[in-house]
Amino acid sequence: MNLHGGIYCLWAFCFTGTTVGNPIKLLLSPSHLSLLAGENATLSCRLNQNSGFKSYFYWKAVKQHPTAGENKTSDFIEEKGRFSISTEEDSPPAAVSTLLISDVSPYDHGRYFCAVHLLGDTTHALLNGTYIQLDVKARPQLSLTSHPSNTSGSRILSCSAVGYYPPDVSLSWDGSSIGVLSPTPQGPPTLHRDGSYSTSSTLLVTEALWITGAEIACVLSHSSLTEPLRKSIRQEDTFSDAAVITRHCVIVPALVIEILCVVYFSLCPAPVRN
Ligand SMILES: *[C@@H]1O[C@H](CO)[C@@H](O)[C@H](O)[C@H]1NC(C)=O
Ligand SMILES: *[C@@H]1O[C@H](CO)[C@@H](O)[C@H](O)[C@H]1NC(C)=O
Ligand SMILES: *[C@@H]1O[C@H](CO)[C@@H](O)[C@H](O)[C@H]1NC(C)=O
Ligand SMILES: *[C@@H]1O[C@H](CO)[C@@H](O)[C@H](O)[C@H]1NC(C)=O
Repeated sequence: MNLHGGIYCLWAFCFTGTTVGNPIKLLLSPSHLSLLAGENATLSCRLNQNSGFKSYFYWKAVKQHPTAGENKTSDFIEEKGRFSISTEEDSPPAAVSTLLISDVSPYDHGRYFCAVHLLGDTTHALLNGTYIQLDVKARPQLSLTSHPSNTSGSRILSCSAVGYYPPDVSLSWDGSSIGVLSPTPQGPPTLHRDGSYSTSSTLLVTEALWITGAEIACVLSHSSLTEPLRKSIRQEDTFSDAAVITRHCVIVPALVIEILCVVYFSLCPAPVRN
């Protein structure tokens, strides 16, 4: 497509004379990118045809991290730190600009816009493209701990999901074998420096609820996980010092005596009678 001198074109729809050409457009790819924190993002912005002009590309972001607030629209993205921009002016069939964001973090979550300034001797045009949606996910770690409560015999179970993004998460308790559980409500998530979040839930388990061998599990669902994470705890893991004592003081010595007896009777010849 050829732009004639004297015609000032703005945006994507710019024609010369009566010849209806194929309008120059910016093509962004991919339209949607979903990455785990730490991966590299490659965003590409290309003219759909050779314009015959010098092209200057610009990238801009509208951040979608919950902390972005009113400052969510960035200035033009500069090439520094984790951001690098490479433009190939003469790459066939048309100029292309590539934005590489290395080691993406939850703070990079957003929409990335591309624009190009086409500059001829007497003509120029500014084209805006659409945007690339960049989603970033961070996988949480799940931990389940148990400690005695100040009410005798009962315990407090505490389940934590650490380092996830986006901030929507579901933490639940599964104690179907011992009946209904009433956890304290999940508190508001806390924000980490890297833009990920953590939350926890606690559960008070009374001694009466805790039957031998009963299992209580903490289940975490999050969009970064293909299936929910699950950690479980049993009575014998925590409460019953009595069960441990039984095992060590009764069962173990009994086994030792039994083994000694077997060894004794199989190895020692029966007493010879005269
Ligand atoms: C936005 O940026 C200005 C200036 O950098 C700052 O004073 C203000 O607190 C920021 N607002 C938010 C919501 O971060
Ligand atoms: C991400 O990019 C950086 C530098 O741009 C490079 O050193 C690193 O190997 C890349 N990582 C992956 C997983 O491609
Ligand atoms: C194109 O982008 C510029 C800079 O972001 C903006 O000021 C302008 O309103 C946009 N124009 C259109 C038609 O989207
Ligand atoms: C037990 O702890 C809770 C809070 O954790 C407190 O409100 C309560 O007063 C404590 N009870 C006793 C008997 O110390």
